[in-house]
Amino acid sequence: MSKSKKIGVLQGDYIGPEITAEAVKILNTVKNKYDFDIELEYIEASGEAYDKYGEVLPQISVDKCKNCDVLLKGPFGGPTELLNDPKWRNIEKEALLPLRKIFDLYTNLRYVKTIPELLDFSNVKREVIDGVDILIVRELVSGIYFGEHGERQTENHGRECYDVESYNEFEIERIAKRAFEFALKRNKKVTLIGKSNILSTSVLWRETVNKVAIKYPGVMLDYMHVDNASMQLILNPKQFDVILTTNMFGDILSDEASVLSGSIGLFPSASLGENNFGLYEPIHGSAPIIAGKNIANPISSILCVSMMFEYSFGRPDIAKNIENAVNKTLAQGYRTADIAVGRDAPGAPSEKIISNRIPGAPSEKPVGTTEMGEIIRGNI
Ligand code: IPM
Ligand code: MG
Repeated sequence: MSKSKKIGVLQGDYIGPEITAEAVKILNTVKNKYDFDIELEYIEASGEAYDKYGEVLPQISVDKCKNCDVLLKGPFGGPTELLNDPKWRNIEKEALLPLRKIFDLYTNLRYVKTIPELLDFSNVKREVIDGVDILIVRELVSGIYFGEHGERQTENHGRECYDVESYNEFEIERIAKRAFEFALKRNKKVTLIGKSNILSTSVLWRETVNKVAIKYPGVMLDYMHVDNASMQLILNPKQFDVILTTNMFGDILSDEASVLSGSIGLFPSASLGENNFGLYEPIHGSAPIIAGKNIANPISSILCVSMMFEYSFGRPDIAKNIENAVNKTLAQGYRTADIAVGRDAPGAPSEKIISNRIPGAPSEKPVGTTEMGEIIRGNI
């Protein structure tokens, strides 16, 4: 029996508890199948913590997180129309960002892998996306997200706001090393993305990453400006292997890249520090409009569990098994609303997507959140 792993579960808001519950059931399946000793602790954060403690990330929750080997987190946040509600107003700045910072989770990994069964579902052509396999390595605890934000009064031009982007060599070097290490295990190419024709931080990234690259002669380093990169991601995504970039550019490019694979509801992420501790969360938000209807796609959260076994628990075999179970389920035609092109799908997202239906797509079986989770578990 392996040593017990303590997993802190932060359920998140709106669809958070629904999809996280399916990920937790996957953990229990793995626990039984592999005799992998897992202990779960539910930790209050975000809306749930606010209701109880008046704070979205109370110290008591942070202390509980510190006692865990890893954290499984659902999306945080409230509906747009409640943005001024004190509960939701500063949720990102007061709960999510501190969580990343406290644990110094500077490496954020986001995969974009096209799933064969969903090739015709993407808005990008099949031949462009078939075979895409990109790992985005996003810096997560510095840059403009954590720089000074402020406001001042100008003499004649009203209020002025500013947000400062800054990076130092230490921060760039440590994440660059990570990107090169991942590239060594993949297709041996790192593309650094910045805006070095304008930003001094991007110049520092280029200089520092060039130095790190010398230690990895087996890995090819390429550089691209972010405007071009955002175009290349759609034009020719197969040219990318590992993308290395800043906090802000990584945020934007990862949403864009998720489109290649059909739905943002499929994507997990891992946020890692120096040791095996990791925070695993879907890359999407809490989707208040579909909450409580059992229609959200639990795959993003289920794949968080897969990443957890790969990056924190050193069990790529279990990670692969979970990923295969997801792919098999999709191959069998099971679809939640976000990836369903059939009219019968509950809550199919929009007419536009429905009209994109490709003739000859595998016959679909519309399922809800819990059924999707159950079928995936059966395929493990
Ligand atoms: C993400 C999210 C967050 C980010 C938001 C919710 C602050 O968009 O994880 O990509 O910008 O990092
Ligand atoms: Mg984002």
